[in-house]
Amino acid sequence: MTVTRRSFLMRLAASGGYAAARAAMATLGLGAIDVAGARTNPPLNLAPGSGNGRSVLVLGAGIAGLVSAWEMRKAGYSVRVIEARDRVGGRNWTIRDGTRIEFTDGTVQVADFAPGHYFNAGPARLPSHHRTILGYCREFGVELEAEVNSSRSAYFLPDAAKGGQPVQLRRAVNDARGRVSELLAKAADRGALDHELSREDRARLVDFLKIYGDLDGQLTFKGSERSGYTVYPGADAQTGERPEPLSLEALLDPDLWSALVFDELLIFQPTMLQPVGGMDRIPAAFQARLGDAIILNTEVAAIHNKENSAGDGAGKGVSVAVRDRNGGNARTLEADFAIVTFPLPVLARVDTNFSADVKEAIASVEYDAASKIAWQSARFWETGSNIYGGISVVKHPTALIWYPSGGFHQPTGVLVGCYNIGQAARDFTGQPLQAQFDASRAVIDRVHPGSAALLKNPVSVAWHKVPYSLGPWVHWATPHERQYVRLNRPEGRVHFAGEYLSQIGAWQEGAALSAHHAVAAIAAAVAGTSSKTTSTTERA
Ligand code: ALA
Repeated sequence: MTVTRRSFLMRLAASGGYAAARAAMATLGLGAIDVAGARTNPPLNLAPGSGNGRSVLVLGAGIAGLVSAWEMRKAGYSVRVIEARDRVGGRNWTIRDGTRIEFTDGTVQVADFAPGHYFNAGPARLPSHHRTILGYCREFGVELEAEVNSSRSAYFLPDAAKGGQPVQLRRAVNDARGRVSELLAKAADRGALDHELSREDRARLVDFLKIYGDLDGQLTFKGSERSGYTVYPGADAQTGERPEPLSLEALLDPDLWSALVFDELLIFQPTMLQPVGGMDRIPAAFQARLGDAIILNTEVAAIHNKENSAGDGAGKGVSVAVRDRNGGNARTLEADFAIVTFPLPVLARVDTNFSADVKEAIASVEYDAASKIAWQSARFWETGSNIYGGISVVKHPTALIWYPSGGFHQPTGVLVGCYNIGQAARDFTGQPLQAQFDASRAVIDRVHPGSAALLKNPVSVAWHKVPYSLGPWVHWATPHERQYVRLNRPEGRVHFAGEYLSQIGAWQEGAALSAHHAVAAIAAAVAGTSSKTTSTTERA
């Protein structure tokens, strides 16, 4: 059998341990590999001083911009970050008491939350395998805690038209497993799978299904303690009472299925993480280190590659016309390179001298819509439903109820009462804000009867209406391979970065990795320029 480098490393990881595998990888010139044998993106390690004072304008202080700026500054580039908003972070936006939320349609909201409460309007969870963004948290000492993304105590709420009651997820998940296991076990036991299974495997499969589905000796699912109780066990003679298992018919409702498996998607598997005190602790950590290299409240009006008569794309640098957000103090900044991290609908409004294919790529990629609503509320989900974090899935345009992962047993907390995307978000946010809040309140009250009066001070963030974002992410249904490939290449001295140029769209990890890609490309260009300069000098 051929031993590939990869399988060699996987076996080494299993037998010799992680340290041995890492050492071997370094020898073989690969990136990091985790103990499960998965290749991870190699860290970006630019040599200190390799920037040699060359100047870079980073346009946009979201995660891609901040990562770009930080890495280039560490390598000795002279970096300025231009940001139109009065804050860093981009879509990484944590809303607290007093935060002003302005939409492009003129709507203004001001959050009215108790001190310490916050709402992560954009990214709100970090998968444990997103090593790059977690690596910055480690590097900067951003304190993390578990983000409880799923809770078996949370609910699935069927469509109101179907008239169903909320079903606790532990019941739905375990009854589905039990019912399906029973069918499969009985089919196997009576020989229906004998074409597929050997006699030994048939017996083993049936034994497995007894455990997996909690079946009795007759291979029947009669309900399971895993599905929870209607009366919890207590002292003395108080035995537990269980609900009737859900019928197969109820479980075969397609509306339910994604609620049964969402925490098996790799990006949502536990343990997920969040910064203590709000997701914006990550951009704040970059800002603390980049200091006055970040220029806020400054809009970009134009990006031009400077005259390049050779037409070879190398150019001589970039000029960027900027103006203060109040419309004053227009000026032109110059640099050797630029990294543009704007979302494409924002970049499409900037005057550029990019070539036609780049302009077409920028103009043609459609962005999606997404909205979230947050409420301040007494913690009825803890006191009434034993829910500590996690998500209830609702078959309703508001899509979910997302419970806070921290502040347990405090008097109040921030509950997310809507997170919809795509056309559902466009339709929903097409209504007046009050109608949106009424709908969110009503659906929360259906899952948690009596809670409506406790829900206070809602705010909505509709990303497709947020200036300088104009959308949450690229609309997945739009084919944009050609644009993706083009924008992953520089245009003269202008490089592009953002989550949309990674294979991990809509995640901060993608933004950070795309930033690494752009920074590495500039470093390679600089290295190429240096060697050319050297040979020219030598010739002279
Ligand atoms: N990263 C986005 C989320 O967690 C899509 O919802």
